[in-house]
Amino acid sequence: MGLATHPEVVEAGCEALRKYGVHSATSRGRFGTNPPVLEVERRAAEFFGTEDAFYFGSGYAGNHILVSATADRMEAVLLDESSHYCVQEAARLPGVPVITFRHGDPEDLRRAAAPWGRVLVMADAVGPSDGSTAPVPEYLEVLKTREQAVLLLDDAHGFGVLGPDGRGLLDELGLWPQVNGGGPEDSDSRVCMVVCGTLAKALGGFGGIIPGTAAFVEKVRSSSHYFDGSSAPASAVAGSTAKALELVIRQPELRQRLQENIARLRGGLRDLGLNPPPGRTAHFGVALEKAETMRAIYEALKSKGILLPYIAAYSGIPPQGILRFAVFADHTPEQIDFLLSELRSLL
Ligand SMILES: Cc1ncc(COP(=O)(O)O)c(C=O)c1O
Repeated sequence: MGLATHPEVVEAGCEALRKYGVHSATSRGRFGTNPPVLEVERRAAEFFGTEDAFYFGSGYAGNHILVSATADRMEAVLLDESSHYCVQEAARLPGVPVITFRHGDPEDLRRAAAPWGRVLVMADAVGPSDGSTAPVPEYLEVLKTREQAVLLLDDAHGFGVLGPDGRGLLDELGLWPQVNGGGPEDSDSRVCMVVCGTLAKALGGFGGIIPGTAAFVEKVRSSSHYFDGSSAPASAVAGSTAKALELVIRQPELRQRLQENIARLRGGLRDLGLNPPPGRTAHFGVALEKAETMRAIYEALKSKGILLPYIAAYSGIPPQGILRFAVFADHTPEQIDFLLSELRSLL
């Protein structure tokens, strides 16, 4: 959302630092919950339309925390093969077999799920490198025949970007009310949907977030030792993050501008024949045939003041690597057009 250097965001961080010091020097479970941390949780709950939210130091830990809260008595973890590192690592925590299925492939998930009754399925809601989105309705269809299933999605890249209220992929799919404890009381569905994400990308702050019903968030806080065993987020970080959330809520035009920039960039790339992956994410990868060509484009654009990283290795990318696009709300149409015209001359 282009908020990282916003003067109000910077000032709120400075003010919190002056008032509360670097941090409370203790965990949330002791005396670590200072006012800016609570303010982030209050603002996050407002943005996500939930009763509560758990705010912690890094989105990377979100899967770890949710696994602790939801993986009890699971027989197997079924893992999208292209998941982010943090999803892959958290998948091993329950200590049960981890079976991978092909990226975004519900039929392969069906194969992987077949021998098991109670399964935890883990994937990125939005692929961190390529911007692909998980086929959630198809996954739910496959999982409804299991004795019990938890679908755990990391929506670090969807939060703030996708959906009518910017709550991520599940908001875009109309499934948000069923997430993180929100399923209807009388539902006979055996699939429980849980999601975590970060405030450090589109939402302009820093740290991990798990919004949900009061009961769900309480369960999350008490099942993982993170609440009791890790320092609360630093005061300046929390102060800035709370302000960034306030601006996102107060200024819906920021998301509107982001969506316009996404459409302009994706449309321009299609005109160049570059075929960005389908969807409306603000970041995505484009793979050209040769790594050398992509590296040369990265270097040439860098010399013009444009950062279009060539990523050679990361979870979920093809062997030759990708050019990774990321567009912000504060990019101007002229900047996007400049990138497109420079790219045209290099292709
Ligand atoms: C899918 C996914 N989850 C989590 C993270 C980490 O979030 P944070 O930077 O808040 O630790 C990333 C970072 O790129 C990510 O892509």
